[in-house]
Amino acid sequence: MTKAMETTMVAEAYGHWAPVYDLVFGRVFRRGRGAAIEAAERIGGRILEVGVGTGLSLAGYSRRNSIFGVDISAPMLGKARKRRDKLRLGHVEGLAIMDAERLTFPDNSFDVVVAQYVVTTVPHPEKALDEFLRVLRPGGEITITSRIGAEAGLRGILEKCLMPVTSRLGWRTEFPWARYARWAASLPEVRLIERRPIPPLGHFWLIRFAKLPGGSGRNEAGPGTLRSWSIPSEADLTLTPEKEAQ
Ligand SMILES: C[S@@+](CC[C@H](N)C(=O)[O-])C[C@H]1O[C@@H](n2cnc3c(N)ncnc32)[C@H](O)[C@@H]1O
Repeated sequence: MTKAMETTMVAEAYGHWAPVYDLVFGRVFRRGRGAAIEAAERIGGRILEVGVGTGLSLAGYSRRNSIFGVDISAPMLGKARKRRDKLRLGHVEGLAIMDAERLTFPDNSFDVVVAQYVVTTVPHPEKALDEFLRVLRPGGEITITSRIGAEAGLRGILEKCLMPVTSRLGWRTEFPWARYARWAASLPEVRLIERRPIPPLGHFWLIRFAKLPGGSGRNEAGPGTLRSWSIPSEADLTLTPEKEAQ
């Protein structure tokens, strides 16, 4: 299956979830979302929320920050837009359809990148993590809430067996911590600063990575673009079939 087909399959899955998403996943991830917002606001400023979904977290951010939300699913994002308008969330500067693996923002655009329950849903998680790092300014943080699968044992076997079913629903059950650890270890500018369990079920974690100032390797662009960069319009950022084909 090509990458485009995999991404389309995930987008379609969440298109089906959109009408009932808040009912099914609203409460269950509420405390995790709160923990992620709290962590992100320790840095604050310009915050990118990747896989913003129906925008359940948007109202939780302080109005002092400016939030840009992106998601691959138009129906999920449509709900987020309705929520922004209904609740008059003026601190939400934009909501755009965008692939986490191909963010269309310039390097060093955000103070914080937040990804809640998203990394295990994208076809190539490490590619998405690379993109989070690229658009983050040096000194900024990536805040992730994520399901971490078992490394071994019965739960590990079960998670592997469930993969064909859950990937159709829009997420992976098999996702060992080693994937995050390997990604972070491969990049000198990345440092793990926190990893702690969050509810529910003991399967979910809050993970924070810092992008060290004066980094090297893939992210050499210097700081300073944040103040001068004006947020592109939603139309500029929205993924179209033409842009997808480029
Ligand atoms: C489990 S939901 C989480 C939604 C929200 N963050 C929350 O806390 O409820 C996963 C979200 O990631 C989005 N998503 C999946 N793959 C994506 C991709 N490649 N790029 C951007 N968003 C993606 C889905 O459309 C969905 O809205």
